[in-house]
Amino acid sequence: MQTPSRRGFLATAASFAAMAGAGRVLGSSPAAGMTEPADLERRAFGATGMDVTVLGFGGAEIGYERTDLAVVERLLNSALDAGLNVIDTAECYVDSEEAIGKTVSHRRKDYWLFTKVGHMEPEGWTPGSIERSIERSLTRLRTDHVDLVLLHSCGKDVLEKGECIDALEASRKAGKTRFIGYSGDSHAARFAVESGRFDALQTSVNFVDQESIEKTIPLARQKRMGVIAKRPIANAVWRHESEPTNNYVVEYWRRMKKLGYDFTSGEPAKDPGPDGAAGVALRFTLSVPGVHVAIVGTSNPDRWKMNARMLREGGALPSERFDAIREQWKKMAPPEWVGQI
Ligand SMILES: NC(=O)c1ccc[n+]([C@@H]2O[C@H](COP(=O)([O-])OP(=O)(O)OC[C@H]3O[C@@H](n4cnc5c(N)ncnc54)[C@H](OP(=O)(O)O)[C@@H]3O)[C@@H](O)[C@H]2O)c1
Repeated sequence: MQTPSRRGFLATAASFAAMAGAGRVLGSSPAAGMTEPADLERRAFGATGMDVTVLGFGGAEIGYERTDLAVVERLLNSALDAGLNVIDTAECYVDSEEAIGKTVSHRRKDYWLFTKVGHMEPEGWTPGSIERSIERSLTRLRTDHVDLVLLHSCGKDVLEKGECIDALEASRKAGKTRFIGYSGDSHAARFAVESGRFDALQTSVNFVDQESIEKTIPLARQKRMGVIAKRPIANAVWRHESEPTNNYVVEYWRRMKKLGYDFTSGEPAKDPGPDGAAGVALRFTLSVPGVHVAIVGTSNPDRWKMNARMLREGGALPSERFDAIREQWKKMAPPEWVGQI
């Protein structure tokens, strides 16, 4: 994988910041005070001026698994020490925001902090609920601002109405978030990108969920949006020998069985190296043009470092391998295989 030099990275980030345009408040870069691993690639996050490590941290799992706080503390602090600079969470991931606030808010300058809104208020998708949700997130995360707030997978109807986007824009103007985004898939994500009102898109992209590779990511790239790959290794679905009972991953498991990729079964499925299932899956996602950061979820305290090492060892996925994964998808995927929330 290409590793930009420190000098090259700073020049790029500076020019992106300059191009980001008036009216957006740019904070200080967390790069200033952090231990920087020279060897984990960073990418300019669209036109935001943020530089993101290609491997981020997805905060859903620590919430839903109710991971012990001591484990979260070890996981996040060791990952930050090893170069992590993107933490993604959401108001509805149980205690994820609180855990992040309790364990790493004292080193807030070391990471870009992303959260999502829209699921926790009985009132539903209204400007008032968005505003209250952001206030709650700031309290839980123990910070006065986040770097990005995303609408958490609302439907196209909510986006069309526009008032929730107005509410996000108001929070950006008030300095509670530096940038705003949409997290979701398929038609709604396409609408969000086309609207031109968002700085960033978070969307599912992985070897069994490729709709976004043509439907949304190229346009997001053209509009210079930051692009976050969610579910970037398809929830490591190859770990299930038989059809999972967990509804959330069953669609991915069925697709995987039909697609029959060579890296998802046999020895590669057990191989923890860059040419094993996780290695190929992650390197595939990060090879999609326009993707800036893959936020792999984990509750394993050593996982982030292991995955970072795997990426450094493996480098970019060879283009023939990337093309073969794409070709197989194009040949096999029926139209109903749309992006999964
Ligand atoms: N609608 C939305 O906005 C939305 C929806 C879904 C996800 N997200 C965001 O995206 C993030 C990532 O998605 P996700 O967590 O659902 O899926 P994911 O990142 O594709 O997969 C996470 C799973 O992969 C396992 N894993 C990680 N590295 C591995 C490796 N090297 N080998 C084997 N297994 C490995 C983890 O297990 P261990 O715990 O054992 O490491 C975890 O169970 C979430 O945390 C959340 O922040 C957003």
